[in-house]
Amino acid sequence: MNDRVIAIDGPAGSGKSTVARRVADALGWSYLDTGAMYRAVTVRVLALGLAPDDLESVARVAASCVLDVDDRVIIDGRDVSERLRDDDVNLAVSAVAANPGVRTAMVERQRAFARYQTRGTVVEGRDITTVVFPRAGLKVYLTASDEERARRRGDEDPTSVARRDAADRSRAASPLRQDVDARVVDTTDRTVEDVVEEIVTWAKTLS
Ligand code: DC
Repeated sequence: MNDRVIAIDGPAGSGKSTVARRVADALGWSYLDTGAMYRAVTVRVLALGLAPDDLESVARVAASCVLDVDDRVIIDGRDVSERLRDDDVNLAVSAVAANPGVRTAMVERQRAFARYQTRGTVVEGRDITTVVFPRAGLKVYLTASDEERARRRGDEDPTSVARRDAADRSRAASPLRQDVDARVVDTTDRTVEDVVEEIVTWAKTLS
């Protein structure tokens, strides 16, 4: 199964979502945006009026929710696709993603998702190369300069992005880090097409 997984990690604004989606399209594989999973749980937690740092209650929501992440993101029967990037979600998602109970529940779902795909899966996030699929057929770490990453985040306040990145890198549970086996791709001065083509070329060597 691991040869049928391309794992992509990197900080916010490194180009992960765009690149991963296009690589999946080029190969005819499925695409999984794991950040959307943590964001959906956060939307649900806020809707339930729970404190994002209430470890036990939030972990219970993550373990018991019915979550479908595809073109639309549906959690417990509600389409939350339009809520995922709202300010309150940007603010609360770091605490939810740092919760070890939440991570255990999400990692299990991410592995199950890949197991059920008949072709292959391109998965992107922060701990995909290091924790979720450490034996993935291809591991990629995307980076870009701070200025370029801030530019790509568009509307979101740069200090909000920086705060989330710092939290993702410094948390105890599965922090963002560059895996030793990952191929590092700096996307700062490159087009999406160019980066996608390089990754697809590597993917073609997978058995
Ligand atoms: O990729 P994104 O910006 O949508 O991610 C949202 C948050 O979820 C961000 O704080 C990092 C976190 N996340 C994570 O901890 N692990 C993942 N595999 C994916 C995202």
